[in-house]
Order: sequence, then C-alpha cells, then structure tokens
Amino acid sequence: MATEAAVTARDVSKSFLMGRQKVPALKGVSLGVAAGTMTALIGPSGSGKSTLLHLIAGLESVDSGELSVLGRPVHTSGQAELAALRLREIGFVYQDFSLISDLTLIENVRLPLEGAGIARKQAHAAAGEAMARVGLSGLEDRFPAEVSGGQQQRASIARAIVGERKLVLADEPTGSLDSKTGIEIMEILAGLRDEGVTVVLSTHNPANLAYADETAELSDGSLVSLTERSSAGERS
Ligand SMILES: Nc1ncnc2c1ncn2[C@@H]1O[C@H](COP(=O)(O)OP(=O)(O)O)[C@@H](O)[C@H]1O
Ligand SMILES: [Mg+2]
Repeated sequence: MATEAAVTARDVSKSFLMGRQKVPALKGVSLGVAAGTMTALIGPSGSGKSTLLHLIAGLESVDSGELSVLGRPVHTSGQAELAALRLREIGFVYQDFSLISDLTLIENVRLPLEGAGIARKQAHAAAGEAMARVGLSGLEDRFPAEVSGGQQQRASIARAIVGERKLVLADEPTGSLDSKTGIEIMEILAGLRDEGVTVVLSTHNPANLAYADETAELSDGSLVSLTERSSAGERS
C-alpha cells in the first residue's frame, strides 16, 4: 500500500473579509491524506469543507500554516505554479457538475488537457479513455442537457481524471443526485481510489462514509474528529 502523502496540511488557517469583518473559515487545521485513499470531509454547512477543498486545489491561498499537495508546498507557490498544478494534476468535481452546456461531453472532458497545451487529437483520445473509465462510452457526442444528472456527474468525474491526474477533489458530488444515482457516483469514486487515485470529498450524506478510508469532521473551521474505517481494505 502507498504510504506517501498526497496532501499534508499543518496548522492551516484561512479567513475571508466580509466588508470590514474578518470571518475565519479554517482555524489551524492539520490533516494528512495518504496517496491512493479516499477521505470524506463532513460537518455542518459553513464548517469549512469547501474552503479546505479550494485550498488543496490552489483555488484559494492559505493565510498561515503549511499545505503540501502532491509533493508541492502550495503555501509558498505562486499563482502560475498553482494554475499549472491544478490544470495538470488535480481534478475538481462540483455538486452542480459545472459542465459547459454548448460543448459535447467529450469536449468538456478534454478541456483541461487542451488548457494545459496538449494537442487536440491526443486530448481527445485521453478524454475517450477517461469517459470509458466512468462508464460513459457511446455518449461522447451528447450535450450535457441530453443525458441524465448521474451521467453529467460521471462526465465531470471523467474531466477530473483525464490525463492520468492523481488527485480528485469533489465538493458534495452526490448533493444534486437521488440516492440511487449518488451510490453509483460513490462506487465510481471508490473504484478510482482502488486504481490508485487519491480522492477527497465533502458530503452531507452519511451513507457515503462507508466508501471512505478516513472521515474528517470539521466544526466551525476546526478539525474535531478523524475516524479511520476499521474495515479499510476489506471492500472489493
Ligand atoms: N469566498 C468567501 N467569502 C466570504 N466568506 C466565505 C467565502 N467562502 C467561505 N466563506 C465563509 O467561510 C466559512 C466556511 O465556509 P465553507 O468552506 O463554504 O463551508 P462548508 O463548505 O462546510 O459549508 C463560512 O462562514 C462561509 O461563510
Ligand atoms: Mg461547501
């Protein structure tokens, strides 16, 4: 089993300015995510789950503390380095899928690779492979509105893994789906984890925790508990 860390947070804090008011979103969070595992972030609305995912993705920068992602100290990285890391190595899955409606599914999936400067033909082939991995073969040329919500979320997962990316961050990936479709999406994420992809997701659904190797609970910007699944590794 891989023991190297995909994410290491040490005493990470982040506040946002609301007018003149400084609102703490994360207060000294320390957390390690081993490569090839799935970690679920839970906690009430406003507890800091999305903020932590955005910091790991490099979409926001930390105020203080240390954050290392895929071996890179992102707390000292510049915007250009963060953008490159995001484009080539990290995938982000949103609750609302965030697909571009006037692009076909495969055009959506290959977008990060084209953004990273990879030739269209090569990007297209990699996108086809990513779609096959999430069970979307045959739907490449459909538009998002022509497929189900579950299929749109699969496409957004394909976009997050395209081109061998090893870290997938998913912010409430089943939040817009019925429970049966939500289970399908969790099975896909767990399957990717079993293939070596590191997954960090936030969720409100306790049923999703059965898939996670670790559950990290946030409350009011602090990590209040860390639970390791006792039967980790027994699945499959
Ligand atoms: N861009 C932002 N601007 C101002 N406040 C924010 C921003 N993002 C998050 N916050 C605040 O940070 C806290 C944590 O929010 P968030 O990370 O979205 O929590 P969660 O995802 O657990 O619901 C909340 O108080 C929220 O209002
Ligand atoms: Mg959130």
